[in-house]
Amino acid sequence: MAFPENRLRRLRRTETLRSLVRETRLTPENFVYPLFVCPGKGIRKEVRSMPGVFNLSVDEAVKEVRETRKLGVLSVILFGLPESKDEVATGAWADDGIVQQAARAIKSEVRDVIVMGDVCLCEYMSHGHCGIVATAPQSLGAAAAAPPVTADYEILNDPSLELLARTSVSLARSGVDIIAPSDMMDGRVGAIRAALDKAGYENTPILSYAAKFASGFYGPFREAADSTPHFGDRRSYQMDPANMREAMREIALDIEEGADMIMVKPALPYLDVIAAARERFDLPLAAYQVSGEFAMIEAAARNNWIDRDRVMMESLVSIRRAGASIILTYFAKDAARLLA
Ligand code: PBG
Repeated sequence: MAFPENRLRRLRRTETLRSLVRETRLTPENFVYPLFVCPGKGIRKEVRSMPGVFNLSVDEAVKEVRETRKLGVLSVILFGLPESKDEVATGAWADDGIVQQAARAIKSEVRDVIVMGDVCLCEYMSHGHCGIVATAPQSLGAAAAAPPVTADYEILNDPSLELLARTSVSLARSGVDIIAPSDMMDGRVGAIRAALDKAGYENTPILSYAAKFASGFYGPFREAADSTPHFGDRRSYQMDPANMREAMREIALDIEEGADMIMVKPALPYLDVIAAARERFDLPLAAYQVSGEFAMIEAAARNNWIDRDRVMMESLVSIRRAGASIILTYFAKDAARLLA
């Protein structure tokens, strides 16, 4: 049967009809709101490249979570800006680390909120890499002034696992509900699972940033979290943007190692990877609409080149339609407001 018997426009005539046949819906419960926690008190410092996103001291972070919760967004993910950085990421695993402090405060002051802890070392390392760096001796001191070429340094995989595991246990101890490793070291999900279990946190789930690509879209985040590598880049651990089949292997391995949930990151430029992961795996699937995706929409909207709210909702619904049920997004609060 074809035209004129068939007219697809019949079901598009009114908003009530469109709503009746809508295939994909967004709900605030599926959003996760990222927060950047910093030392101090009463601090609310806007990130230059991310309008409406702030570095927050612990007291301000608690207020922010209260507001987020009121809007129906039940989950936040914490990133930390430590007091100081070193070569072993002490700020990541110290029990009085900034994220640990924030988690304790949020969990004791806000009810029914899920606190996720991003587990990575880059924000806490003096060099800004996600793992321990081995450098040629002569370039150690000169690292910041004269960036060594690729051959001059290496991100050590296995020694980094111990620090990631230690960080995860410390976060769980401070009340973090879900451990979310984003470092992309091989074997880290297994190492973290074993360490959590050994410390008595066998009920703490792992949301693995399983397919995380080496992306230019992380630019504004690195400003927000002060985590730009001082030399080189992240291509020896994060994935090549060209690789779909490798993404499936990364995810399969993380599942084998004990991941409870998996993530694809970034989101919009990788909708095909999200869709493929949804087809192939049955774990809850998350996607991270990253800082650059957010910043592009904000920047275009500021120029009146696009309708911000409309593009925001369209981008979120497309991530959901591709198959992600959980969306980490800086739009969480604004989108929840529009959905209310
Ligand atoms: C830590 C981490 C990054 C992001 C989340 N966790 C930055 C990076 O890998 O450089 C990016 C999030 C965003 O851009 O919004 N490794």
